Parts: sequence; C-alpha cells; structure tokens
Amino acid sequence: MSHHVHQLRNRVLRSLAATGAITVASVGACGGNTESEQEGGGGAAAGSTASGGSASGSGSAGSGGAPSVGGGGTPAGGSGPLCDYGTPERLCLDDQGLKAYVDRQTQLGEPTGPGWPGGDTDANGCPTVDRVSDDCCNGPAAAAERDGDRCCFTFCVGGCCGRPLTVSGVAVVARTAKREDWSGATTVVDADTEIARAWQADALMEHASVASFARFTLQLLALGAPAELVGDSIQAGLDEVDHARRCFALAGRWGADKLGPGKLAAPLEPTGTLEETVVAAFREGCVGETLAAIVAEHQRVMCNDTEVLETLRVIARDEANHSDLAWRFVAWALTQDRAGVLRALRAERAAVRSRSRRAPERAPRSKSWHHAGRLTDHERWNAEDTAIEAVVLPCLDALLASQDGPTVGAPGLRATV
Ligand SMILES: [Fe+2]
Ligand SMILES: [Fe+2]
Repeated sequence: MSHHVHQLRNRVLRSLAATGAITVASVGACGGNTESEQEGGGGAAAGSTASGGSASGSGSAGSGGAPSVGGGGTPAGGSGPLCDYGTPERLCLDDQGLKAYVDRQTQLGEPTGPGWPGGDTDANGCPTVDRVSDDCCNGPAAAAERDGDRCCFTFCVGGCCGRPLTVSGVAVVARTAKREDWSGATTVVDADTEIARAWQADALMEHASVASFARFTLQLLALGAPAELVGDSIQAGLDEVDHARRCFALAGRWGADKLGPGKLAAPLEPTGTLEETVVAAFREGCVGETLAAIVAEHQRVMCNDTEVLETLRVIARDEANHSDLAWRFVAWALTQDRAGVLRALRAERAAVRSRSRRAPERAPRSKSWHHAGRLTDHERWNAEDTAIEAVVLPCLDALLASQDGPTVGAPGLRATV
C-alpha cells in the first residue's frame, strides 16, 4: 500500500480517535505496523506509515530502498512545535529510497537529474530541503539529519495533498457554458480534445462540489453543529471553487474553448434529518472525498506538466482535508443520535461492500494522457478500489467496532469496548 494511502487512513483514524468516536486500540489495530509518534497527540495513538510502505504510487523506491519511518517531534537542537499543521513524521532514506523523494515535482517516477547522489546537497551530504517532498507534496520541515548512510527528513503529515452533489441519490453537474471567468488566462501546450474534455469533466464535478458544501453548511447549521465543522465546511466550499477554476484552466491548456459552468440544478432546500445528512456526508465526503484525494495522488505521480502538478498537489491536499471533515461530522453526529447514525452507517457499509465493478477500459488513450495527469479507466478504478478497501472500510469498521463491539469489524480489528 502506498504511503499516501496510509497517511490518509491514519489521519482519519487519528481524527476519529481525537473525537472519542474510536478508541486508541482501534487506531493501532487498523493502522498496521505503526512506528511513528505523534507530537502532542492528546492521547490519540499515532497510527502512521507502516513499515515496508513503498515510497509512492510510482513504486520508484525500489526493493532495496524502502524508507523507514519513525516518530519525529521537535527540530534537531530546537524547541517548540516543528509543524504548524500536521504531525511530524521522520522518514529515513538510503540512496535508493531518495530517488523516489527527490525532485518529485518534475519526475516521472525517476529523478530528473543524473541520479542520486547528485544535485544540491547540504552539509550532511543529503539533498537540500527544496528538492524533497513527500507523497502529499509536503517539503521537509527541517534540514536532513544524517543517520549512517541514510538521510532522515521530518515531514508534517496531515496537510495532505470530488465530492459529488447528489440529488435523490444521483450525482448532478452543470452543463458547460462559454465564459472566461472560471478559467482565466491559460497557455495552450497541445491540442488534445480527449484530455481537454477529461479536465472539463473534472471541473464540472469540482463546481458541483461547491454546491454540495453549501448544502452541507446549511445542514450543519440546521443541526446545531459545532463552529469548527461549520467553518471547515465553508472553507471547503471555497477550496472547491479554486479546484473548479484550476480544472477549467487545464482544459484550456489542452485547447478547449474558454468554458465555465452553466446553471446548476442545485437543491435550494437543505432538508434532511440527521440520519439523512449523515448518509449524504458519508457518500459525498467519507467516500467521495477520500476517492478524490487518492485518485489525485495517483494522477500526480504520472504527470510531468508543471501546471497540472500544482493543481493536483492542491486538490489532493484539500480533498484529504474534506474527507477528514466528513468523518469528523459523522463522529459528531454519533453524539447526537447514536442508534440512528449507527443504523445509517451499517446500511452504507453494506452498500459500499456490494458496489458494482466498473466497466472495462473503453479505448486507448493518447500518448500524452498520463503526462497530462490523467489515469486510464483501469488505473482510476484501481485507485478508487484502494481508497475504499484501504481507507473507507477500515475507518468505518474501526468506528463501528468501537461503537458497536466486535461483531461488525473487519478481520484483524480488535474489539475495543
Ligand atoms: Fe475538489
Ligand atoms: Fe473536496
């Protein structure tokens, strides 16, 4: 399982643990081989990157270069928190492992330079921090420390790099319209209708996400939800505006006309009971946003266009935040109506388990498909399946097991109540 999948799963588990919705034991049981330590974790266990985790979706760490991960707390020789946001995680890499982490912004699974060692190094002979980033696009929080033949970096994990609008169970989007305010100035790199349409489709999904969060915000207010959730939902809506604009701009980068969204048939009433709101949040957030975050990471590692890389970095980071928000809302909802919310979650679990498999690959893609940050149907399906199996279901099972006892949990989950 790739590093960013571990990170998102453990982030959600930590958030759920922080709310008291799951127990510390669940975090440990679900998080695999946990080796890192959280700083100031408030008692929540630090489920973190498991040993043997490959460096990234590119798999370019190589068998001999798997990184080891450990806790990281404070800067070397310093005091105070290392991370303004996220949890410090220390990652030690040998020469082979470094290849996956150096120059990630421009690599296609391999470093662009002459290979490692090479390029700018610091006094320890390790890559300078501006050349290194983790699977979530975060740079190291401090310069590397030398550990024998390895260079150890500390990343602030948690700031990781679509939420559909569902109406009566169906995802809706606007049609496109000729306008310039959603795409801005773009530089055309190539004329490729297929790639342009793919980014356009993403843009419409992102645009629909704005409405989804607007509705969610109203639902939160109607339910008397905590201020933190309301504020995060409003911020998430702004994030989605940004995502939509970025994706429309990328469509223009591959030759699309200046387009934006037309009118959206968004529901104007934020109706819904607590249970109904939980169901929508689970489908759109716990599932939809989790898939979006993982898919964006998969897109990113294949891409070599600088504009696309930046967009995917932002989207992956924000969607992970949005997924986390949805899970925190579900945890809060449990405090309001435990029996009703558990009933809804059990039904959702059954629905996720019985989800249909997607159609096989439709058609060959253009040569530049991957370079433009796009996945084939199979690749997307695999990424989404990974998100369901490695993030959504384990987190839901941990939640149900903690709330409900051991009867619901997946194999390997311990009873925790
Ligand atoms: Fe988004
Ligand atoms: Fe989102």
